[in-house]
Amino acid sequence: MKHFRVHRRFFSFVQAVSLCILPVLAEAQNLPAPADRNQLSDFVVQQRADKLLKQMTTDEKIGQMSQIFVFGNGLSVEERIRSGRVGSVLFMTDPAQINHLQHVAVDGTRLHIPLLFGLDVIHGFRTIFPVPIGMAASWDPQMVERAQSVAAEEARAAGVHWTFGPMVDIARDPRWGRIVEGAGEDPYLGSAMAAAQVRGFQGQYIGSPNHILACVKHFAGYGAAEGGRDYDESDISDDQLWNVYLPPFKSAVDAGVVTLMSAYMDLNGVPATGNKWLLHDVLREDWHFKGFVVSDNEAVKSLQTHGFAKDSTDAAIRAFDAGVNMEMALGKTAYGENLPEALKAGRITISQIDDAVRPILEAKIRLGLFEHPYVDETLAKKTINDPEHRAEALHSAERSAVLLKNDGGLLPLQASRYKTIAVLGPLADSKVDTTGSWVFAGDSSETVTVFEALQQEVGAEAHVEYAQGVQIARKFPSPFDGISKVKKQAAWSESQSAEEFARAVQLAGNSDLTIMVLGEAQNMSGEDASRSSLALPGKEEQLLEAVVATGKPVVLVLMNGRPLDIRWASEHVPAILEAWYPGTQGGNAIVNLIYGKAVPGGKLPFTWPRNVGQVPIFYAHNTTQAPSAQDKRYWNEESTPLYPFGFGMSYATFSFSNLQLSKPEVKTNETLDVSVDVENTSEMAGDEVVQLYLHQQSGTSSRPVRELKGFRRVSLSPHEKKTIHFTIGKDDRTYWSSATKSWVIDSSQFDVWVGGDSTASLHGAFSVLP
Ligand code: BGC
Repeated sequence: MKHFRVHRRFFSFVQAVSLCILPVLAEAQNLPAPADRNQLSDFVVQQRADKLLKQMTTDEKIGQMSQIFVFGNGLSVEERIRSGRVGSVLFMTDPAQINHLQHVAVDGTRLHIPLLFGLDVIHGFRTIFPVPIGMAASWDPQMVERAQSVAAEEARAAGVHWTFGPMVDIARDPRWGRIVEGAGEDPYLGSAMAAAQVRGFQGQYIGSPNHILACVKHFAGYGAAEGGRDYDESDISDDQLWNVYLPPFKSAVDAGVVTLMSAYMDLNGVPATGNKWLLHDVLREDWHFKGFVVSDNEAVKSLQTHGFAKDSTDAAIRAFDAGVNMEMALGKTAYGENLPEALKAGRITISQIDDAVRPILEAKIRLGLFEHPYVDETLAKKTINDPEHRAEALHSAERSAVLLKNDGGLLPLQASRYKTIAVLGPLADSKVDTTGSWVFAGDSSETVTVFEALQQEVGAEAHVEYAQGVQIARKFPSPFDGISKVKKQAAWSESQSAEEFARAVQLAGNSDLTIMVLGEAQNMSGEDASRSSLALPGKEEQLLEAVVATGKPVVLVLMNGRPLDIRWASEHVPAILEAWYPGTQGGNAIVNLIYGKAVPGGKLPFTWPRNVGQVPIFYAHNTTQAPSAQDKRYWNEESTPLYPFGFGMSYATFSFSNLQLSKPEVKTNETLDVSVDVENTSEMAGDEVVQLYLHQQSGTSSRPVRELKGFRRVSLSPHEKKTIHFTIGKDDRTYWSSATKSWVIDSSQFDVWVGGDSTASLHGAFSVLP
């Protein structure tokens, strides 16, 4: 869409000329097939959309603005499509069923307008990649882009046109379950991941072969839900909103995202889905967004629940007026039920409706759906069985893992030393938990668990035995359990629980080494999965303590989407590997990492708290009263986190030196170059993520102690040294000031730190002159 805007300006210049001399252009019939078609010009797309709009009735237009789930509304989906009341259907994964409904729309409606099929393709379609928080931990936007383009290819092959991703909500409270779906706490890393995912899903332009539409969500502030409670209100200062929560959305818009989802919750007293300032002033006026906005599910009707709209008509009008183009709903849409009357009553205008529908039609035109509405039903099988996809998934899982601890060089394991290996924990042999939440089209039989991969790895060289040890479960069930078809294990009786626990500890005692896979089940993380505690669930902690007490070496592998309270483990377990929910190839990736066939190089995308009472805790806080007395913030606990933002170890070791700034002083709009040498000081090859942090010492507003403003993941051979360059530009020093209610760039002294995490100590300084 970057191209899109450039073209738009270009066409505003030539449009009049073209209209006179090239009228045939407007017809744009007989377009080539998507595979060999290039990006359609804005002019052609607009002309086609306008031509269609002229032929549409009001009901047909409002129909395009309605998106319904394929299940659960008690109404006949087909009937509604046939009557022209549906523009998009979500939650279908089967190409034959998709084609069937598409036929209903194309053959059965007056204007033959095809449907858009949407689905939450969050971290893979059939081949499942690590969950987004894990992919963010790779600090490798190119890898993330490739992963999402594989996801797009598989989804498109099944007939899906549109994903509801990426989720770019900044999350600083890990009690919030949806932290797993985003890139963590930092706006700079979050913005890089947002743009990479948009490029991955959408390709070079809207309608690129084998790609789909992206939908950046949830606009905006959902990650700041009070108390980490899902769907609760967010109260965000304008400083935090502009400087922290909005930048990843802006980055996605700049990367050309074509759709955006309005959030469920109330933002500073105005529900996001009825928030005209957000959806119109910021998004359309300020950011020049030209695509369309879809509401989150039932979020239009829920404007009444918020105590904002007085009835369903008011809800529809206010969401529509705020800028929601399409309403997502389980049952009837408030738009379908109310907007026709509202138009008749003069409460909205037909040109407003046209403006809302036009970008929806444009997206369908750009995707080539009018010429090629159906999917080749044999394509899905070929595409999703592509071994290259599995290789990408393996690579992604390896690059996403974060090594948190490795005392005495326990890892990588020396294979010959361990002839009997115990594999313990409820996640060690669970396919469904290895892939994580938001998996609807994956085939869990394709997923490789840690236990399976380990057996494969050691073959006849060692004996590997598994014991689950404990069961873990939510107190209240997840609404997703039914959808993701998770087979529930029957709950153990008290005596069975005691036996299983004892069997696991005994197995550890009789083995040379124990690999424990602990954390949270996949349904404990994600939507509707907030938690008031960060403890290891159930009796996992007790099992860990009992196993460590056997005195045998223990490797702890964590599968989770949020930081957990692992203070005890961090002191008593020699090796801890954060694997997230690593996806289809998860077990293979973990085994490769612990045996040294791959080297961990991921870094934490959030600050890891010691316990839940420290939450929210993030590195980019402001310096306030008594900064040198940081250890006095609590009397019962350190003020520092367990692991800082950006932290992660490797089997290799690295050193940083020779920090150089190209100039000691710059003018406000000038850039400067920062370079640093990073050296692998070990005998092993490995990756380091070089991170650059900036701090403004004084100004119109007070600024955070440090902020990430550059990073690069670098591979280094043993003893190799590389010089890494960063550019610090004007944008890196511009921020929103609550003092002036505007963007400012101050002249000030700046500190620069470069290193391997947010506590980096290699320091330089420069001044910005007026
Ligand atoms: C979630 C969205 C999701 C939608 C459709 C909602 O409950 O908040 O993130 O895209 O459902 O599945």
